[in-house]
Amino acid sequence: MKVLVIGSGAREHALVTALSADPQVDAVIAAPGNPGMATTARCEPVDPLDPAAVTDLARQHSVDLVVVGPEGPLVAGVADAVREAGIPCYGPSAQAARLEGSKAFAKEVMAAAECPTGMGRLCTTMAEVADALDAFGAPHVVKDDGLAAGKGVVVTDDRAEALAHAEQCLAKDGGAVVIEEFLDGPEVSLFVLCDGTDVVPLVPAQDFKRVGDGDTGPNTGGMGAYSPLPWAPEGLVDDLVARVAQPVVTEMARRGTPFIGTLYIGLALTSRGPKVIEFNARFGDPETQVVLARLRSPLGQLLYAAATGSLADQPELRWSEQAAVTVVMAAENYPGTPRSGDVIDGLADVGEVPTAYVLHAGTADGPDGTVVSAGGRVLSVVALGADLEQARERVYAAVERVSFADCHARSDIALKAVRGEIADPNPSARPPHPEAGAAATMEA
Ligand code: AMP
Ligand code: GLY
Repeated sequence: MKVLVIGSGAREHALVTALSADPQVDAVIAAPGNPGMATTARCEPVDPLDPAAVTDLARQHSVDLVVVGPEGPLVAGVADAVREAGIPCYGPSAQAARLEGSKAFAKEVMAAAECPTGMGRLCTTMAEVADALDAFGAPHVVKDDGLAAGKGVVVTDDRAEALAHAEQCLAKDGGAVVIEEFLDGPEVSLFVLCDGTDVVPLVPAQDFKRVGDGDTGPNTGGMGAYSPLPWAPEGLVDDLVARVAQPVVTEMARRGTPFIGTLYIGLALTSRGPKVIEFNARFGDPETQVVLARLRSPLGQLLYAAATGSLADQPELRWSEQAAVTVVMAAENYPGTPRSGDVIDGLADVGEVPTAYVLHAGTADGPDGTVVSAGGRVLSVVALGADLEQARERVYAAVERVSFADCHARSDIALKAVRGEIADPNPSARPPHPEAGAAATMEA
């Protein structure tokens, strides 16, 4: 099987790596890809946001499957165009991707599917915003209704800041905001593979969204992740499949917009049980880096089955019992406008650390065979271990070997989990289980 992966981040590099390891996958093409992916895949400089160009590329290489990484191409209709050309595609249609593209649409589907979530109100005037802020109280949660690359959400105790963010969002053409009830408790990301009818969950992971240690500073695309979650309640995954993923996929099919691809459930474990914070219509970055590091089942066959409506026939997934941690190395000034063009040193030395490897995100080929920074999140360093503590030690040993001018990384990825400082606040929850109840067969 030949697979085309759309995107250029570390998530796509992780997808390319896992797909290449599938014995049924003979070749992987990436568009546009990056220098890291170029070691295992053929990279083609095609605009990932251009549905016709992506479809032409898929035809030209006679690929059997197209896997779309980021949300931009999905919202632009890349999956629709590829499927119309008769090529299996792992990724939702533009209509189905509205689960991510519109916060208001996501809330509407959650209501119809009776998913556990916080209260929310769609507002289009400042008077409605003020009312909603008063109704829910602080901390205030104000979300831009449209896609905003993780930067459209403000969570604050400061009413003036909440109002200012709402005003900014409403000032846009057709602007709308969703004001939400604040959901307290540890956050979990769960990816569920969907074929339009059936769903298969992967293992949960935790992401670190803020730029600074101790969850300080502005939100980013994600600065690190780990899996498994030793503190997650037993049965969590089964519960989320039964109460969220399956009802949402059934509701989307009922509406005539079947969901094919990854339903990313972002949730908080609150004192009243798990509540959905958001949906995304794709794999998360950087959680994918740790989830795929632990997957032992062949990914190409799995995504092909999802793209062709046959997930129900797939054997149960197999997972490594090892823990995985990833740390993002970011360029100076990220999440603001990052500096680029700095030479990255030490990439070859990462191999000295057992299990460690580097996935590329914002990198480019520099002069004389060097690799230079070319984006905000530059690298995603990954390591495995017998437990989170060992995986953490290894990943940071690897991060120390790599450098580029003024790069920064969080030093506390997975630290609270290792110290046992995270707890499920729901008193009725059952005791923790290493795999949070995933229906999975374990192997070392
Ligand atoms: P989103 O773009 O919806 O993923 O929001 C980005 C981040 O803002 C989430 O990962 C949470 O950390 C935070 N957040 C969003 N909605 C809420 C909420 N209702 N309660 C608490 N935190 C939230
Ligand atoms: N890790 C968060 C995201 O992919 O949106």
